[in-house]
Amino acid sequence: MSRSKYILAINGSYRSGGFTDQAVDSVLENLGDLGAEVEHIRLRDYPIGFCRNCRQCMQQPGDAPGTCVQEDGMADLVQKIEKADGYVFAAPTNFSSVTALFKRFSERLAVYGYWPWGQLSPTFRKAKGPKKPAVLISSCAAPGLLGRLTYGTNRNLRIAARTIGSKVVSSMVTGMVAQEQDVELPPRARRRASVLAHRLVA
Ligand SMILES: Cc1cc2nc3c(=O)[nH]c(=O)nc-3n(C[C@H](O)[C@H](O)[C@H](O)COP(=O)(O)O)c2cc1C
Repeated sequence: MSRSKYILAINGSYRSGGFTDQAVDSVLENLGDLGAEVEHIRLRDYPIGFCRNCRQCMQQPGDAPGTCVQEDGMADLVQKIEKADGYVFAAPTNFSSVTALFKRFSERLAVYGYWPWGQLSPTFRKAKGPKKPAVLISSCAAPGLLGRLTYGTNRNLRIAARTIGSKVVSSMVTGMVAQEQDVELPPRARRRASVLAHRLVA
């Protein structure tokens, strides 16, 4: 019997129960219904520090992620990333980009790069080989289309997805989410969450 798919969600929202939390949960609920095992990492509760740009992890050759000098939650998170069959990357737009919380995480993905001293730029350890699927979730106060076209949020999420060797199969950019203090996931976003879940396990 084959094991069920394990889908890992990495959420860079600061706010508990806000749009991003609800959108990620909605995708994961759909995935649960489709028989997947799911895990929701809320970076605000996750103990990782800032990348120190020491590049020690990037000196180690090979396809496996390098080892960071910091002993925090990142090693565990990298293990989860390696084990997962697919990913949800999510962050709201703050100042035209992902939150600093998500950016801090994505900089720690340096372990997925090989960049020995003397080499002009890094090569990515997972550039070759099979690509696992990823979906992206972002939101903003501006209208969604404007957000998609002008903000870096979706692009930043995509860079994180590519760095770990995954392929973005779908994304959801929702605008006009900051009109009220308490957000309720709109029906359109719920329908989109179902599409994203199906794309992940297709
Ligand atoms: C400090 C801050 C900066 C923000 N910057 C932007 C922005 O540049 N553009 C935009 O459309 N919305 C911006 N927003 C609105 C957020 O994107 C919106 O509230 C968020 O998507 C809701 O997600 P959440 O419920 O998960 O927090 C900002 C919100 C905050 C608090």
